[in-house]
Amino acid sequence: MITKQDVVAAYQLLLRRAPESEEAIDHWLERCAYPDELVNGILGSKEFEVGLYNRSTPTSSIRPSDEEIVARFGVYPEPDLVHWLRNLPAIEGMVLPSSAYISAALAQFQARNDYRGNIAEIGVYHGKYLAGLATSIRPGEKVIAVDLFEDQDQNEDVGGYSEAGFEAPLRALTQDVFAEVMSTYAPHAELLTIKRSSLNVTADELMPDGQRVRFFSVDGGHTHDVFLNDLRLAETTLAPYGIVSIDDILNPDWPGIITAAVRYFDGTTKLRPVAFIENKLLCAYESHADIYRTALRNIAPRSLRRRDVEFSNYTADEYVDGFDLYAFLRSLPL
Ligand SMILES: C[S@@+](CC[C@H](N)C(=O)[O-])C[C@H]1O[C@@H](n2cnc3c(N)ncnc32)[C@H](O)[C@@H]1O
Repeated sequence: MITKQDVVAAYQLLLRRAPESEEAIDHWLERCAYPDELVNGILGSKEFEVGLYNRSTPTSSIRPSDEEIVARFGVYPEPDLVHWLRNLPAIEGMVLPSSAYISAALAQFQARNDYRGNIAEIGVYHGKYLAGLATSIRPGEKVIAVDLFEDQDQNEDVGGYSEAGFEAPLRALTQDVFAEVMSTYAPHAELLTIKRSSLNVTADELMPDGQRVRFFSVDGGHTHDVFLNDLRLAETTLAPYGIVSIDDILNPDWPGIITAAVRYFDGTTKLRPVAFIENKLLCAYESHADIYRTALRNIAPRSLRRRDVEFSNYTADEYVDGFDLYAFLRSLPL
């Protein structure tokens, strides 16, 4: 059983302050019976996340050169990327910071290596993930967003979200909120928004002017059939050097995703798994899978936990949150 002293100690250790009131202590005493529940609760709190960001503020005013930063982190401190990273906790959305960082860094890697193409996401919500990918956009490339926005009656996941306590935020979703996030964090992106179920979107619509997609995030409907529809759209429109990011691949709330993904990779696809990052699987064609694996080891060396874990007929590297994002932010000039 946890005691009042345990709560005070956990606050000091994890939040670096005393509890604000007796009510705050009671809050945890009522919810948690065991120390690990208390610790996990605080670690998962908004305040802990924001605190991590605050502690990643640089303490030194010595400005490392961009070259030094790139050499250490494999990521260029481009202003739009850094602005989005610093503000991640303030953007409403369903993406974990380490996955957001790794994905946006890979999109930047593509742009820096002149892998040209559009960036697309099915299931954008407020645009938290897409805005970060879109910070890498170059002239002539488009950012394509597909979502139901206000038409949540067509969302086959609503029942599941309702049980998980997430229905109200989803029902409050508007295309305007999304557009505002995109213009704030990816001001240079040429945005094409398709407000419709992905079941009624064609591959041609995702390739305006015939240009293929270099980074495709699949994060829309979470049933087996809707997810498979979206994955096929991704495969059909992907550039030869493209990346597909599959969300919720190992999320027990949505086992339709892993069911469909294993069936898909057991089949004849030329896509290959590259890496599991937190709550996502990154995939690429065989020709580029090793290039991205190598790039990832530069971008997130602290987060690499295992190499070559088994998945379907292939293997993928496993990344956890090794706080590469915070190390990167700390290294930047104020
Ligand atoms: C998990 S949220 C996406 C989170 C988002 N990627 C982020 O960065 O926070 C899922 C989104 O998929 C959308 N969605 C669900 N079913 C869809 C469908 N059939 N077609 C298009 N969008 C869909 C929902 O409206 C919701 O915004």
